[in-house]
Amino acid sequence: MEIKLKKTSYVSGVIEVPADKSVTHRAVMLSSLAEGNSIVRNYLPSDDCNRTIEAFRHMGAEIKIDNDSLYIKGAGLKLAKPQNGKYNIYAGNSGTTTRLLSGILAGQNFETVITGDDSLSKRPMRRVILPLSQMGADIKSNDGLLPLIIKGRNLLKALNYENDKSTAQVKSAVLFAGLYADGATTYKEPVKSRDHSERMLKAFGADVRVSGNFVTVYPAERLTAQDITVPGDISSAAFFIAAALIVPDSNLTIRNVGVNPTRDGLIEVLKQMGADITLTNMREISQEPVCDIVVKYSKLKAANIDASLVPRMVDEIPVFVLIATQVDGVTRISGAKELRVKESDRIEVVTSQFKKLGAQVESLEDGFIINGNSGFNLTGAVVDSFEDHRIAMVLAVASLIAEGETIIRDSHCVDISFPGFYKVLKNICR
Ligand code: S3P
Repeated sequence: MEIKLKKTSYVSGVIEVPADKSVTHRAVMLSSLAEGNSIVRNYLPSDDCNRTIEAFRHMGAEIKIDNDSLYIKGAGLKLAKPQNGKYNIYAGNSGTTTRLLSGILAGQNFETVITGDDSLSKRPMRRVILPLSQMGADIKSNDGLLPLIIKGRNLLKALNYENDKSTAQVKSAVLFAGLYADGATTYKEPVKSRDHSERMLKAFGADVRVSGNFVTVYPAERLTAQDITVPGDISSAAFFIAAALIVPDSNLTIRNVGVNPTRDGLIEVLKQMGADITLTNMREISQEPVCDIVVKYSKLKAANIDASLVPRMVDEIPVFVLIATQVDGVTRISGAKELRVKESDRIEVVTSQFKKLGAQVESLEDGFIINGNSGFNLTGAVVDSFEDHRIAMVLAVASLIAEGETIIRDSHCVDISFPGFYKVLKNICR
């Protein structure tokens, strides 16, 4: 499927973005492992999260959907055993489903095979295989790639693990496995990655202690069902923040956005660049800070991003590159090599597709150099999402300032994280 989009005069309005993908995955997982009936309100009904829901339905959790809420009767920490020897789980495009689930499966008394789509089948899994094997799980893979064949163990060995990468997926896998270990498991990372798992584990009654970049989790006998409300996804809001900032005369309010301090790097750097962004109505919902974000068109100056900030805006780098094409000066992004192993090689794809639109972007091994050209419009072209949801969305935002028409190929993949994206975008274009 392709979509044709045109330049817009300005964007304005009050919108909401769908629920947070990371929080939804974790809420489904921990509710499924809990004892009792949980409610996950305002969950994200996207392709990725549906993969997690389906996986846990297979493994004994009862999950009912009513409007935008999930009603989950947990199966307990030890999931139901498969009737035919092993489970086959299809994780689709979802790295989060695969890696977090691996941590849970490491502590189960059965075998599971995890497969995925073409993109997921190219993504590195050694990062979870390594620590989980050290904890005692038996994990086979296709040379570090899917399919994963995970044979869990009733009691895992507690682990002290130091990762040289900041990745919440690996951290979460180890913390979840730590629930099934014979002692305290400690995980250390160079820069703190998103901490939704830590927050939610605590809410479900697990003993989790955080000290700087260290997290320790203690074995759990049970988790207790919770009533959770999922905030809007800042990674989805980022596309609209960008739209309002780069289209002259724009003024947009995005309601109900999660602004967890491990996720707000984009807002921090944009403010340093001179962005007119106001966070209002700050509150806490289900252990997560939430607010409304008001964004107005702003003339921005360039800023550099390095490894100390990347984990706090890892999914927002593509949209940050787009903003950087519109600022005054040269922006350098480094320490972002992880982008090469996301749903696509985002360094290559962002560079090649933005160049088609006339932007001055060069790729680095671990980032980008962007020659900002304040006030310069891009030119419409035929561009490709490479089936990567965040690439499709950033190209759609770029089309708002591109002369003429932009055609995005494989535009449907936005459903991975943001069903209804094009409708919301259309509704704010004037
Ligand atoms: C996620 C962590 C990040 C992020 C992904 C979701 C999560 O991945 O890019 O979209 O929910 O834990 P890494 O852990 O690989 O950095």
